[in-house]
Amino acid sequence: MARPPYEPYAESPSATFRWRLGVRPLDLDQWLEITDHRDAELAAKAQIMATHPHTAFAVLDDGIADESHEIADAVLAHLRSHHDPAITLDTSLHPLDAAARLVQEDLVVMVERNGRLVFGGGSVCFPNRWDLRSKLGMTMAEVHDPVSLLNEQLGDTVDAFLARLTPHRPVWRLGWGVLDTDELYQPTDGTAAPRPVDAPPAAHHLRVERETLRRFPATGCVLFTIHTHLTPLMDVIDSATSAVALADALDSMPTPIAEYKQLDRTGAAIADWLRHAATTR
Ligand code: HEM
Repeated sequence: MARPPYEPYAESPSATFRWRLGVRPLDLDQWLEITDHRDAELAAKAQIMATHPHTAFAVLDDGIADESHEIADAVLAHLRSHHDPAITLDTSLHPLDAAARLVQEDLVVMVERNGRLVFGGGSVCFPNRWDLRSKLGMTMAEVHDPVSLLNEQLGDTVDAFLARLTPHRPVWRLGWGVLDTDELYQPTDGTAAPRPVDAPPAAHHLRVERETLRRFPATGCVLFTIHTHLTPLMDVIDSATSAVALADALDSMPTPIAEYKQLDRTGAAIADWLRHAATTR
Protein backbone atom coordinates (compact mmCIF):
# COMPACT_ATOMS: atom_id res chain seq x y z
CA MET A 1 0.00 0.00 0.00
CA ALA A 2 1.74 3.21 -1.13
CA ARG A 3 1.01 6.59 0.38
CA PRO A 4 1.46 9.56 -2.00
CA PRO A 5 5.15 10.52 -1.84
CA TYR A 6 4.16 14.20 -1.69
CA GLU A 7 0.89 15.87 -0.71
CA PRO A 8 0.94 19.32 -2.31
CA TYR A 9 -2.84 19.74 -1.99
CA ALA A 10 -2.43 19.61 1.81
CA GLU A 11 0.27 22.27 2.04
CA SER A 12 -1.52 25.60 1.71
CA PRO A 13 -5.20 25.07 2.35
CA SER A 14 -7.37 28.06 1.44
CA ALA A 15 -11.02 28.72 0.76
CA THR A 16 -10.31 29.38 -2.91
CA PHE A 17 -7.67 27.52 -4.85
CA ARG A 18 -4.86 29.72 -6.27
CA TRP A 19 -1.88 28.82 -8.43
CA ARG A 20 1.35 29.16 -6.47
CA LEU A 21 5.00 29.49 -7.45
CA GLY A 22 5.84 27.20 -4.55
CA VAL A 23 9.53 26.84 -5.33
CA ARG A 24 11.95 25.57 -2.67
CA PRO A 25 15.75 25.27 -2.77
CA LEU A 26 16.93 22.03 -4.36
CA ASP A 27 19.80 20.04 -2.88
CA LEU A 28 21.51 18.77 -6.03
CA ASP A 29 22.14 15.41 -4.34
CA GLN A 30 18.34 14.99 -4.60
CA TRP A 31 18.10 16.26 -8.20
CA LEU A 32 16.84 13.08 -9.89
CA GLU A 33 14.72 10.55 -8.03
CA ILE A 34 14.95 6.79 -8.34
CA THR A 35 11.91 4.78 -7.22
CA ASP A 36 10.79 1.15 -7.32
CA HIS A 37 9.11 1.92 -10.65
CA ARG A 38 12.41 2.73 -12.38
CA ASP A 39 12.75 -0.40 -14.50
CA ALA A 40 9.10 -0.37 -15.59
CA GLU A 41 9.15 3.35 -16.43
CA LEU A 42 12.42 3.18 -18.39
CA ALA A 43 10.98 0.22 -20.34
CA ALA A 44 7.80 2.24 -20.96
CA LYS A 45 9.90 5.17 -22.24
CA ALA A 46 11.78 2.89 -24.67
CA GLN A 47 8.48 1.50 -25.91
CA ILE A 48 6.92 4.95 -26.33
CA MET A 49 10.00 6.23 -28.19
CA ALA A 50 9.77 3.20 -30.51
CA THR A 51 6.07 3.70 -31.26
CA HIS A 52 5.46 7.47 -30.88
CA PRO A 53 8.83 9.22 -31.28
CA HIS A 54 7.32 12.40 -32.76
CA THR A 55 4.87 12.74 -29.89
CA ALA A 56 7.37 12.18 -27.08
CA PHE A 57 10.46 13.94 -28.47
CA ALA A 58 10.74 17.32 -30.17
CA VAL A 59 13.41 20.02 -30.43
CA LEU A 60 13.75 23.33 -32.28
CA ASP A 61 15.00 23.06 -35.87
CA ASP A 62 18.47 24.22 -34.78
CA GLY A 63 18.72 20.98 -32.78
CA ILE A 64 19.58 22.64 -29.40
CA ALA A 65 22.78 20.55 -29.52
CA ASP A 66 24.96 22.61 -27.16
CA GLU A 67 22.26 22.80 -24.50
CA SER A 68 21.43 19.10 -24.82
CA HIS A 69 25.07 18.04 -24.49
CA GLU A 70 25.47 20.20 -21.39
CA ILE A 71 22.34 18.62 -19.86
CA ALA A 72 23.26 15.06 -20.87
CA ASP A 73 26.74 15.42 -19.33
CA ALA A 74 25.18 16.60 -16.05
CA VAL A 75 22.61 13.77 -16.00
CA LEU A 76 25.33 11.21 -16.66
CA ALA A 77 27.64 12.65 -14.00
CA HIS A 78 24.80 12.67 -11.46
CA LEU A 79 23.81 9.07 -12.17
CA ARG A 80 27.42 7.90 -12.08
CA SER A 81 28.00 9.41 -8.66
CA HIS A 82 24.59 8.60 -7.13
CA HIS A 83 23.43 5.40 -8.80
CA ASP A 84 25.68 3.42 -11.12
CA PRO A 85 29.34 4.31 -11.82
CA ALA A 86 29.25 2.28 -15.06
CA ILE A 87 26.15 3.86 -16.63
CA THR A 88 26.58 5.20 -20.20
CA LEU A 89 24.68 7.35 -22.70
CA ASP A 90 23.57 5.94 -26.03
CA THR A 91 25.59 8.24 -28.31
CA SER A 92 23.61 7.18 -31.38
CA LEU A 93 20.64 9.18 -30.03
CA HIS A 94 20.06 12.93 -29.69
CA PRO A 95 21.76 13.74 -26.35
CA LEU A 96 18.53 14.98 -24.75
CA ASP A 97 16.75 11.78 -25.79
CA ALA A 98 19.69 9.66 -24.58
CA ALA A 99 19.74 11.43 -21.19
CA ALA A 100 15.98 11.12 -20.73
CA ARG A 101 16.09 7.36 -21.32
CA LEU A 102 18.32 6.97 -18.24
CA VAL A 103 15.95 8.67 -15.80
CA GLN A 104 12.29 8.44 -14.76
CA GLU A 105 11.88 12.19 -15.25
CA ASP A 106 10.61 13.87 -18.40
CA LEU A 107 13.09 16.56 -19.49
CA VAL A 108 12.03 19.95 -20.93
CA VAL A 109 14.46 22.70 -21.93
CA MET A 110 14.06 26.46 -22.21
CA VAL A 111 16.82 27.99 -24.36
CA GLU A 112 18.08 31.55 -24.90
CA ARG A 113 17.29 32.70 -28.46
CA ASN A 114 17.44 36.36 -29.58
CA GLY A 115 17.60 37.52 -25.97
CA ARG A 116 14.51 35.57 -24.94
CA LEU A 117 13.96 32.32 -23.10
CA VAL A 118 11.90 30.04 -25.35
CA PHE A 119 10.76 26.45 -25.28
CA GLY A 120 13.62 24.57 -26.95
CA GLY A 121 12.28 21.04 -26.76
CA GLY A 122 11.93 18.02 -24.61
CA SER A 123 11.67 14.33 -24.07
CA VAL A 124 8.22 13.92 -22.57
CA CYS A 125 6.90 10.35 -22.43
CA PHE A 126 4.47 11.03 -19.58
CA PRO A 127 2.72 14.34 -20.44
CA ASN A 128 -0.25 15.31 -18.31
CA ARG A 129 -2.54 16.01 -21.27
CA TRP A 130 -0.53 18.63 -23.14
CA ASP A 131 1.16 18.67 -26.52
CA LEU A 132 4.96 18.89 -26.61
CA ARG A 133 5.52 19.69 -30.29
CA SER A 134 3.10 22.65 -30.31
CA LYS A 135 5.14 24.37 -27.55
CA LEU A 136 8.39 24.69 -29.57
CA GLY A 137 9.63 28.29 -29.76
CA MET A 138 7.07 29.63 -27.27
CA THR A 139 7.77 31.98 -24.38
CA MET A 140 6.84 30.87 -20.87
CA ALA A 141 3.61 32.87 -20.95
CA GLU A 142 2.67 31.33 -24.31
CA VAL A 143 3.43 27.81 -23.00
CA HIS A 144 1.16 28.44 -20.02
CA ASP A 145 -1.59 30.15 -22.03
CA PRO A 146 -3.97 27.11 -21.94
CA VAL A 147 -3.66 26.94 -18.14
CA SER A 148 -6.70 28.79 -16.88
CA LEU A 149 -5.87 31.84 -14.70
CA LEU A 150 -2.16 30.93 -14.53
CA ASN A 151 -0.79 33.94 -16.39
CA GLU A 152 -3.21 36.28 -14.61
CA GLN A 153 -2.25 34.99 -11.16
CA LEU A 154 1.40 34.11 -11.68
CA GLY A 155 2.71 35.06 -15.15
CA ASP A 156 4.90 37.98 -14.00
CA THR A 157 6.09 36.02 -10.96
CA VAL A 158 7.17 33.08 -13.13
CA ASP A 159 9.04 35.39 -15.55
CA ALA A 160 10.77 37.20 -12.67
CA PHE A 161 11.64 33.91 -11.08
CA LEU A 162 13.22 32.56 -14.30
CA ALA A 163 15.19 35.78 -14.77
CA ARG A 164 16.64 35.31 -11.25
CA LEU A 165 17.32 31.58 -11.63
CA THR A 166 21.09 31.01 -11.53
CA PRO A 167 23.11 27.79 -11.76
CA HIS A 168 23.85 28.10 -8.04
CA ARG A 169 20.22 28.27 -6.97
CA PRO A 170 18.30 25.28 -8.37
CA VAL A 171 14.77 24.76 -7.06
CA TRP A 172 11.96 22.25 -7.03
CA ARG A 173 8.19 22.47 -6.85
CA LEU A 174 5.11 20.26 -6.93
CA GLY A 175 2.00 20.06 -9.09
CA TRP A 176 -0.94 17.69 -8.83
CA GLY A 177 -4.09 16.45 -10.52
CA VAL A 178 -6.62 13.63 -10.33
CA LEU A 179 -7.01 11.52 -13.47
CA ASP A 180 -9.37 8.76 -14.53
CA THR A 181 -6.52 6.48 -15.60
CA ASP A 182 -3.27 4.98 -14.38
CA GLU A 183 -1.68 5.40 -17.83
CA LEU A 184 1.34 7.71 -17.64
CA TYR A 185 1.29 8.35 -21.41
CA GLN A 186 -1.35 11.08 -21.77
CA PRO A 187 -0.53 13.19 -24.85
CA THR A 188 -3.33 15.07 -26.58
CA ASP A 189 -2.51 14.20 -30.20
CA GLY A 190 -4.75 11.13 -30.34
CA THR A 191 -2.04 8.54 -29.66
CA ALA A 192 -2.99 7.86 -26.02
CA ALA A 193 -5.26 4.92 -25.12
CA PRO A 194 -8.96 5.87 -25.17
CA ARG A 195 -10.16 7.52 -21.95
CA PRO A 196 -12.25 5.32 -19.65
CA VAL A 197 -15.94 6.16 -19.90
CA ASP A 198 -17.50 7.44 -16.66
CA ALA A 199 -14.78 6.03 -14.39
CA PRO A 200 -16.08 5.93 -10.79
CA PRO A 201 -14.15 7.92 -8.14
CA ALA A 202 -12.52 4.70 -6.84
CA ALA A 203 -10.90 4.17 -10.25
CA HIS A 204 -9.20 7.60 -10.24
CA HIS A 205 -5.54 8.27 -9.53
CA LEU A 206 -3.70 11.10 -7.88
CA ARG A 207 -0.99 12.38 -10.19
CA VAL A 208 1.75 14.35 -8.42
CA GLU A 209 4.50 16.01 -10.44
CA ARG A 210 7.80 16.69 -8.69
CA GLU A 211 9.45 19.31 -10.87
CA THR A 212 13.01 20.64 -10.67
CA LEU A 213 14.35 23.80 -12.33
CA ARG A 214 18.05 24.34 -12.96
CA ARG A 215 19.95 26.83 -15.10
CA PHE A 216 23.11 25.57 -16.78
CA PRO A 217 26.19 27.81 -16.80
CA ALA A 218 27.72 27.30 -20.26
CA THR A 219 24.64 27.70 -22.48
CA GLY A 220 22.29 29.51 -20.05
CA CYS A 221 19.50 27.02 -20.73
CA VAL A 222 16.93 26.12 -18.08
CA LEU A 223 16.13 22.46 -17.57
CA PHE A 224 12.70 21.58 -16.21
CA THR A 225 12.43 17.98 -15.00
CA ILE A 226 9.07 16.37 -14.30
CA HIS A 227 8.80 13.19 -12.24
CA THR A 228 5.23 11.92 -12.29
CA HIS A 229 4.11 9.89 -9.27
CA LEU A 230 0.80 8.02 -9.52
CA THR A 231 -1.15 6.88 -6.44
CA PRO A 232 -4.58 5.21 -6.69
CA LEU A 233 -7.22 7.14 -4.73
CA MET A 234 -7.93 3.77 -3.09
CA ASP A 235 -4.53 4.20 -1.42
CA VAL A 236 -4.97 7.92 -0.67
CA ILE A 237 -7.98 7.09 1.52
CA ASP A 238 -5.77 5.02 3.83
CA SER A 239 -4.98 8.35 5.44
CA ALA A 240 -8.12 10.17 6.50
CA THR A 241 -6.16 13.44 6.81
CA SER A 242 -4.81 13.15 3.30
CA ALA A 243 -8.17 12.19 1.82
CA VAL A 244 -9.94 15.11 3.49
CA ALA A 245 -7.20 17.55 2.41
CA LEU A 246 -7.56 16.38 -1.20
CA ALA A 247 -11.36 16.66 -0.97
CA ASP A 248 -11.04 20.22 0.39
CA ALA A 249 -8.64 21.18 -2.41
CA LEU A 250 -11.02 19.78 -5.05
CA ASP A 251 -13.94 21.65 -3.52
CA SER A 252 -11.98 24.93 -3.42
CA MET A 253 -11.20 24.93 -7.16
CA PRO A 254 -12.78 27.70 -9.22
CA THR A 255 -14.70 26.32 -12.22
CA PRO A 256 -12.19 27.50 -14.89
CA ILE A 257 -9.35 25.72 -13.09
CA ALA A 258 -11.47 22.59 -12.58
CA GLU A 259 -12.21 22.72 -16.32
CA TYR A 260 -8.50 22.96 -17.16
CA LYS A 261 -7.80 20.01 -14.87
CA GLN A 262 -10.76 18.12 -16.44
CA LEU A 263 -12.40 17.82 -13.03
CA ASP A 264 -15.39 20.11 -13.61
CA ARG A 265 -17.86 17.22 -14.09
CA THR A 266 -16.32 14.80 -11.60
CA GLY A 267 -14.51 16.82 -8.89
CA ALA A 268 -17.49 17.18 -6.52
CA ALA A 269 -18.32 13.46 -6.66
CA ILE A 270 -14.66 12.54 -6.12
CA ALA A 271 -14.48 14.90 -3.12
CA ASP A 272 -17.65 13.38 -1.61
CA TRP A 273 -16.31 9.87 -2.14
CA LEU A 274 -12.95 10.76 -0.54
CA ARG A 275 -14.66 12.19 2.55
CA HIS A 276 -17.03 9.27 2.89
CA ALA A 277 -14.33 6.64 2.32
CA ALA A 278 -11.97 8.33 4.77
CA THR A 279 -14.52 8.21 7.57
CA THR A 280 -15.78 4.67 6.97
CA ARG A 281 -12.55 2.71 6.42
C1 HEM B 1 8.30 28.14 -11.40
C2 HEM B 1 7.90 28.09 -12.62
C3 HEM B 1 6.62 27.44 -13.07
C4 HEM B 1 5.40 27.42 -12.50
C5 HEM B 1 4.95 28.07 -11.21
C6 HEM B 1 4.53 26.63 -13.35
C7 HEM B 1 3.21 26.37 -13.10
C8 HEM B 1 2.40 25.58 -13.87
C9 HEM B 1 1.06 25.18 -13.52
C10 HEM B 1 0.36 25.56 -12.23
C11 HEM B 1 0.59 24.43 -14.52
C12 HEM B 1 -0.79 23.77 -14.56
C13 HEM B 1 -0.62 22.31 -14.24
C14 HEM B 1 -1.58 21.81 -13.21
O1 HEM B 1 -1.27 21.92 -12.01
O2 HEM B 1 -2.64 21.30 -13.58
C15 HEM B 1 1.60 24.37 -15.53
C16 HEM B 1 1.47 23.71 -16.72
C17 HEM B 1 2.49 23.60 -17.61
N1 HEM B 1 3.79 24.06 -17.45
FE1 HEM B 1 4.50 25.17 -15.98
N2 HEM B 1 5.25 26.21 -14.42
C18 HEM B 1 6.54 26.67 -14.28
C19 HEM B 1 7.57 26.47 -15.13
C20 HEM B 1 7.48 25.79 -16.28
C21 HEM B 1 8.57 25.56 -17.18
C22 HEM B 1 10.00 26.06 -16.98
C23 HEM B 1 8.07 24.84 -18.23
C24 HEM B 1 8.75 24.35 -19.46
C25 HEM B 1 10.01 24.38 -19.66
C26 HEM B 1 6.66 24.62 -17.97
C27 HEM B 1 5.82 23.94 -18.81
C28 HEM B 1 4.49 23.69 -18.55
C29 HEM B 1 3.62 22.99 -19.48
C30 HEM B 1 4.01 22.43 -20.83
C31 HEM B 1 2.37 22.93 -18.89
C32 HEM B 1 1.09 22.33 -19.49
C33 HEM B 1 0.43 23.42 -20.32
C34 HEM B 1 -0.78 22.94 -21.12
O3 HEM B 1 -1.70 22.34 -20.53
O4 HEM B 1 -0.77 23.20 -22.33
N3 HEM B 1 6.34 25.20 -16.79
N4 HEM B 1 2.69 25.06 -15.10
